[in-house]
Amino acid sequence: DNNSEEVSNDNEASSDPIVVGFSQIGAESGWRTAETESIKETLENDPQFELKFSDAQQKQENQIKALRNFIAQQVDIIALAPVVESGWETVLTEAQEADIPVILLDRGIEVEDESLYTSFIGSDFILEGENAAKELINLIGEDEETNIVELQGTVGASAANDRMEGFANIIDGNDNYNIIKSQTGEFTRSKGKEVMEAFLKSDGENIDAVYAHNDDMALGAIQAIEEYGLKPGEDIKIVSVDGIGDIFEAVIAGKANIIVECNPLLGPQLAQAAKDLMEGKEIERWIKTDETVFVGAEEAEAALPDRKY
Ligand code: AHR
Repeated sequence: DNNSEEVSNDNEASSDPIVVGFSQIGAESGWRTAETESIKETLENDPQFELKFSDAQQKQENQIKALRNFIAQQVDIIALAPVVESGWETVLTEAQEADIPVILLDRGIEVEDESLYTSFIGSDFILEGENAAKELINLIGEDEETNIVELQGTVGASAANDRMEGFANIIDGNDNYNIIKSQTGEFTRSKGKEVMEAFLKSDGENIDAVYAHNDDMALGAIQAIEEYGLKPGEDIKIVSVDGIGDIFEAVIAGKANIIVECNPLLGPQLAQAAKDLMEGKEIERWIKTDETVFVGAEEAEAALPDRKY
């Protein structure tokens, strides 16, 4: 009846929220900003949650401090987007001893004891690297001699290591395709531009393609190529990972060629996983999202209206 319904609703409203401490890497790219927004929007608009947010400004030591703070505050769940893969054992052991489950978001880690985290929500970066290489070979043709320069992400990040590995898996099988230069552009537009300028200075007209581990670095490279006097997308083909709005515009304008999608909108999956954990349910070890690839202006233009980041 009405009365009992009211009572149970009241109870629900007054029950304690699930406190999630989220240690974010920083704001180096459009992708990461979209991820932060997705998590804030999802958890802050849901009364079942309380979010404690910490921005590490690209420094692992800041992330470790943030995690220790979350542990001291006895949060219910820690969400960690780890800037690099190694060096997490000590702090994750502290979280485990405090009985706080850790969910990894978007990037993976390397630990001997896999029980130090409960679940990983994010993409298959090796597959992204493989798809980038396959689509590039499709676009240019497997018999064409192709010199590639690679803009790597943050040194030691799973997103960089795995995208490098996946790309190499495919390229190594074709003698016509060679990576002639590979250097970190730290996942940022400005560093991507700077490194591309150096590549152009040393190898100029020999460069046939750029493989950038994210769109921001590709966008920086596009600028560098234009300033150098060549046509990005034509003289030098561009393939990158993420799928932010600006790279769609670049592909539509013919300045880039291939977008390998990586989904940053992880808020809803994090919320679901956190609720399930609090209800004592088992959650999947790896929670993946479906992702795709867009090649050329036509595909980019068709997809643009539905893009959410
Ligand atoms: O970990 C995901 C990567 O980190 C994204 O591809 C990149 O843009 C971000 O900064």
